[in-house]
Amino acid sequence: MTPSTVSINRSDIIAEDLFAENTQYSIDGLKNFESASPLHTKEGTSSSMNICVVGTGYVGLVTGCIFSDLGNDVICVDIDPAKVEMLTRGEMPIYEPGLEEMVKRNIEDSRLTFTTDLDTAVRSSEVVFICVGTPPLENGDPDMRFVRSVAKSIAGALNGYKVIVNKSTVPVGTGNMVREIIEQYRETDTPFDVVSNPEFLREGSAIKDTLEPDRIVIGAPSQAVAMKILELYAPLERPVILTDVASAEMIKYASNAFLATKISFANSIANLCDLVGADVIQVIKGMGNDSRIGSAFLNAGLGYGGSCFPKDTSALVRTAENAGYEFKILRAVMDVNQEQPVRFLDNVRHIMGGSLAGKKIGILGLAFKPNTDDMRDAKSVEIIGKLLTENADIKAYDPIAMDAARKIYPHLNYCEHAYDAAEGTDALLVITEWNEFKQLNMERIRDSMVSPLIFDGRNIYDPVRMRKLGIKYHGVGRAGALK
Ligand SMILES: NC(=O)c1ccc[n+]([C@@H]2O[C@H](COP(=O)([O-])OP(=O)(O)OC[C@H]3O[C@@H](n4cnc5c(N)ncnc54)[C@H](O)[C@@H]3O)[C@@H](O)[C@H]2O)c1
Repeated sequence: MTPSTVSINRSDIIAEDLFAENTQYSIDGLKNFESASPLHTKEGTSSSMNICVVGTGYVGLVTGCIFSDLGNDVICVDIDPAKVEMLTRGEMPIYEPGLEEMVKRNIEDSRLTFTTDLDTAVRSSEVVFICVGTPPLENGDPDMRFVRSVAKSIAGALNGYKVIVNKSTVPVGTGNMVREIIEQYRETDTPFDVVSNPEFLREGSAIKDTLEPDRIVIGAPSQAVAMKILELYAPLERPVILTDVASAEMIKYASNAFLATKISFANSIANLCDLVGADVIQVIKGMGNDSRIGSAFLNAGLGYGGSCFPKDTSALVRTAENAGYEFKILRAVMDVNQEQPVRFLDNVRHIMGGSLAGKKIGILGLAFKPNTDDMRDAKSVEIIGKLLTENADIKAYDPIAMDAARKIYPHLNYCEHAYDAAEGTDALLVITEWNEFKQLNMERIRDSMVSPLIFDGRNIYDPVRMRKLGIKYHGVGRAGALK
C-alpha cells in the first residue's frame, strides 16, 4: 500500500496517550504511515477522497466546498429539494463572503455535486460528514432528531467500510449514539468507525476560518481512523489535536462556552462602568492587552446571539445537569446575556420619557452579527418584538439580512439605506456592528432626525465626537467617556 505524502510537523500535533501504544503511529509527515486495511481505498494515488457531506447549511456547504477545492470529490446531501436545486444552479441559499465563487468553480470542475439522494451519496463515499442542525429544544437540550435520522439512513446505505464524521455540534456521547444506531440498522456486519471533528468556523468569515483554523480537532476511536481524517486536512497545514471522541465533543462546547463567558464578563464590566462612571472601551483595552487575557470576544454590547452560543451554552448546562454537576458560571453567563437587551431597552425607554408608544425608532442592523444574513437568535428580533409590543413606530435597515428578517417581521418598514432608517426618527438604535455604519455621515444623520438621539448597542461610535456633533449618544458602558 502506498503511503500518503502529506506533511504535518510533529510540533503541530498534540496526540493523546490514547494513541501512544499503537505501534503504527508515525506523526512526522505521516510518510511512514501505512493504514490498516480498509482505510485507503485509492491505492497508489494522491490522497484525494470521495466524500459525502450531509446537510448543506453554513457548516456543511462550506465544508463540502473546501474539501472539493482541495481536490476531493464531494457530494453534498440535503433533505430540502429547493436548496439542492438552488445549489446545483450555483445559487447560494445563505450569504457568506466568497462562498458563491468557490462553489461555482468546484461545480464547473465536476468535483462538487448536490443531491437529495443520501443513499447513493453514502454508497459512493469513503468518508461521510454529518453537518445537520442541532437546534435547541425548550429544555435547553439540543434536538438530536436530525443526527439520529441521518445515522439511520447511513446504516441503510452502508456498502463497505466508511468513516462517519460528526461535524455538527453534539453533546458528549453522540459518537456512541451514532455508532449504536448504525449497528442497529445496518443490514450486514459491514465495518465502520465514528469520529468527532467539531467545527469552529464563524459565519461571515467561514471560508477563511475553514482554510486557516486555529486548530483541527479529531476525536477518533483509534490512531488509524484518526489518520484517515487527518489526511483530508493535511493540505491546510494547521495544528491538529488528536484525541478520543468524547473529549473532542467536549472541546467544542467548552470553547463556545468560554467565548460566551468572555462576552458576558465584558457586559457585566460595562454595566458597572455605567454605574461608576468608567469607560468600558478603555477598561477592555487595558485588560485585553494582557496576553493572559486577550481582547478577542471581550466586547461589551447587546450580548451574544446566533445559532451557536445560546444553544451551546444551554446544552452544556444541560449536559452538566444530567451528569449531576451544577455549572454555575455558565448559568450566570446565560443570565447576563438575557438581561443585556432588556437593560438596553430600559435605558432607551427611560431616556425617551418613560414610554415608547408612538415614538419613531430607526434600527441599524438586523443580522445577529455583521457579514451574515443569519437571523437565528439575533438581538434585533427580540428588540423589535418588544418595541412593537410597546407600539413604537419602527423603520429598519440591514445591508444583507432584510430578506431573512422579512420572514420574521413581514410588515416592518424596511429601508433602502441606513440614512432612510434614521430620517424622521426620534431615536436611532445600532443593533449590529456592520462596517458600513461606522463610516456614515453623522451630520446628515443628525440633520435628518426629529431629535438627534443615538443608542449604540455595539459601541461603534465615539461618544466625544457624537457630543461635538450635537448628538445625544448612549453607548453600553461608556458613561466615563463623556465626563
Ligand atoms: N453556523 C455556524 O456558525 C456553526 C459553526 C460551528 C458549528 N455549527 C454546528 O454545525 C451544525 C450545523 O449548523 P448549520 O448552521 O450549518 O445548520 P443549518 O441549519 O444552516 O443547516 C443544516 C442543514 O441540514 C439539513 N438537514 C436536516 N436534516 C437533514 C437530513 N436528514 N438529511 C440531509 N440534510 C438534512 C437542513 O435542510 C439544512 O440545510 C450545528 O450542529 C451547529 O451547531 C454551526
